[in-house]
Amino acid sequence: MTKNIFPDRGSVNTEDRSRLTGVKPQVFWFYGLSGSGKSAIARRVEKTLIEKGMLCYWLDGDNLRGGLNSDLGFSAEDRIENIRRAANAAKLIADSGVVVIATFITPLKENRTQARRIIGDIFNEIYVKCSVDICRERDPKGLYVRAFNGEIQDFTGVSSPFEEPGTEIFTIDTEKQDEKESAEKAIEYIIERIIRD
Ligand code: ADX
Repeated sequence: MTKNIFPDRGSVNTEDRSRLTGVKPQVFWFYGLSGSGKSAIARRVEKTLIEKGMLCYWLDGDNLRGGLNSDLGFSAEDRIENIRRAANAAKLIADSGVVVIATFITPLKENRTQARRIIGDIFNEIYVKCSVDICRERDPKGLYVRAFNGEIQDFTGVSSPFEEPGTEIFTIDTEKQDEKESAEKAIEYIIERIIRD
């Protein structure tokens, strides 16, 4: 597939663009169950960073699935392809000198490994922790009730697996702290990593 291809990296690099944007272009990959609070946190993070003059872009699973990934469903294979495209999109945006906030369920450890492999050492993993029971109670999109009624197949946490990471992974527990506190924890973590010397 990649035969007869000659990548041309141009005459400016990520560092040149990063000097213009003033931030270190890192990718912050938030993952967790639907309803765990990924988007709510990302929305606040994005707003705060922009207000501080730190250029960032939020890439979200639902949004990508409305366009670039609209041909994909939720089988294990389609999720792998979904993450492959999302990770490549994140990498391109970061290469443009912009901080990326990514929010995808990324249910399996192998999905997270795949994203890390594609993105490289600017990949930062953030687990948004919340039990299925609480996500089901919150059910902001009304999807859990439909999944439990058997109306949605392969629903993560109900009829499709979600693998929790180990304790070594930076975790935001949205059962223990509210949306504002969760976002503040994420913002502190991110800002430390994107400030240029
Ligand atoms: S991922 O598993 O491939 O990373 P992604 O984050 O892109 O998933 O998309 C998840 C979103 O799709 C959920 O937030 C939810 O709104 C919607 N969705 C629709 N069907 C499903 C399903 N079967 N499982 C999980 N999420 C679903």
